[in-house]
Amino acid sequence: MKPETILIIDYGSQYNLLIARRIREFGVYCEILPPNFKESDIADKPIKGIILSGGPASIYEKNAPALNSLVLKQGVPVLGICYGMQALCHSLGGRVKRSNHREYGRAPLSVTRESKFFKGVPRVTQTWMSHGDSVVKLPAGFYGTARTSNTPFAACENPKQKIYGVQFHPEVAHTDRGAAMLKNFVFGVCGAKGAWTIRSFVEDGVRMARATVGKDHVICGLSGGVDSSVVAALLSKAVGKQLTCIFVDNGLLRKGEREQVEKIFGRQFKADLHVVDARKLFLKNLKGISDPEKKRKVIGHTFIRVFEKEARKIRGAKWLAQGTLYPDVIESRSAFGGPSATIKTHHNVGGLPEDMKFKLIEPLKELFKDEVRKVGRELGLSAEMIGRHPFPGPGLAIRILGDVTEERLKILQEADSRFIEEIRTAGLYDKIWQAFCVLLPIKSVGVMGDQRTYENVLAVRAVTSLDGMTADWAEIPAPVLAKISNRIINEVRGINRVVYDISSKPPATIEWE
Ligand code: XMP
Repeated sequence: MKPETILIIDYGSQYNLLIARRIREFGVYCEILPPNFKESDIADKPIKGIILSGGPASIYEKNAPALNSLVLKQGVPVLGICYGMQALCHSLGGRVKRSNHREYGRAPLSVTRESKFFKGVPRVTQTWMSHGDSVVKLPAGFYGTARTSNTPFAACENPKQKIYGVQFHPEVAHTDRGAAMLKNFVFGVCGAKGAWTIRSFVEDGVRMARATVGKDHVICGLSGGVDSSVVAALLSKAVGKQLTCIFVDNGLLRKGEREQVEKIFGRQFKADLHVVDARKLFLKNLKGISDPEKKRKVIGHTFIRVFEKEARKIRGAKWLAQGTLYPDVIESRSAFGGPSATIKTHHNVGGLPEDMKFKLIEPLKELFKDEVRKVGRELGLSAEMIGRHPFPGPGLAIRILGDVTEERLKILQEADSRFIEEIRTAGLYDKIWQAFCVLLPIKSVGVMGDQRTYENVLAVRAVTSLDGMTADWAEIPAPVLAKISNRIINEVRGINRVVYDISSKPPATIEWE
């Protein structure tokens, strides 16, 4: 059975995912749909309420997304936020006034009338505004419940029909009591129970995967990363021996990565694990290539060929499991929800040949990254595995500037493992988004004992970030940096100088290539 659901209609606001996140934090499942969603998109869902999000359009623009007539037909409570409130009021006979200047920023809100939406919220409270147009006349049956100095109808409602509207954004942290307001709507107005938990997600996911796959066989490509590991663990629990995991050892992995995958999936989950040792092939194909984009292409093509060859050995495989996450699904929709979601294919296996038609199973496609981590924990994956830093598909090949050789890979793996060990020892690993080493294509002079050396320079990079889109270099304390540098230079043959990268993104990128 599907969990009780709050629908969020996506009018394009940058804060949409925040609304979804807040509501799931309350233990209520929710889904984001485009404004032109169809009956069939919601047919099997026990909908408790609908939230219309904000968005950049003006209701009077030619292609402005309208209120879908299905929204009010459901007979469930509706909350319109910002543009969502304007769309509601406009379509119910109110009037929205166009404005060329935006009200943007914090605004103290005065609650003017008793409302379930503001239960427990002080009469004056800080909110976050980001709008141009505003509602100047309410539809029949509505009354205002709060105002700001610029916006007479900062909140309105028709409690009989359980329709609510707010001009501000309760989902952002700058709205002091925003979470309480959303809670009031979800529980007080919609009557949700809040029984959705990660455990129930796992139980439902297992049941659904079994029902979807039936007696067929499933293939899952393991990369060593969090998403594919969680998918494999979930499917392993759901269909056991009907699952085959393929792990391609391309030789560009971090030290001990292959062993870790073998330990978790071979021994702990007892999965049918195919480890393909393709290290030589990757190195051969990468020989003489130093251009970063060429490296990526060669690695991508080689991966697909190796994966395909192995997958063909698995008789009767009909399904391919992928670690698509919720933000991937949302991002791949057009701004105002064109045709229903076209889902991004995983960059690694998106290019399988036409005659290898698999049906896709994507058991995580409703989850956020932090929820995926919780699912992984629930399934018995270790905290260390789940908390791993992101690692690029092309692996260490784009952290060895210039030619990739077996010798240089070995040097980088050894240095990297010491760096990560020291970061963990210092208790910094979980505070850092990504930490890694880069082997530079230059040598420098050093002195060891009485000997002059002429060896490689290694750059050490650690960044903090929320999403990888922007990043700051991490302020690792000097004594920790000193320990890192000492260990690497003393223990790793081939490096006599370590430098710390102090560039932020932008203008630098996280990776060097
Ligand atoms: P940049 O270097 O662009 O990286 O700031 C942002 C994030 O993306 C990762 N990255 C990649 N991931 N294939 C991947 O799967 C790639 O070719 C690739 N290049 C960069 C990078 O590690 C960081 O997390």
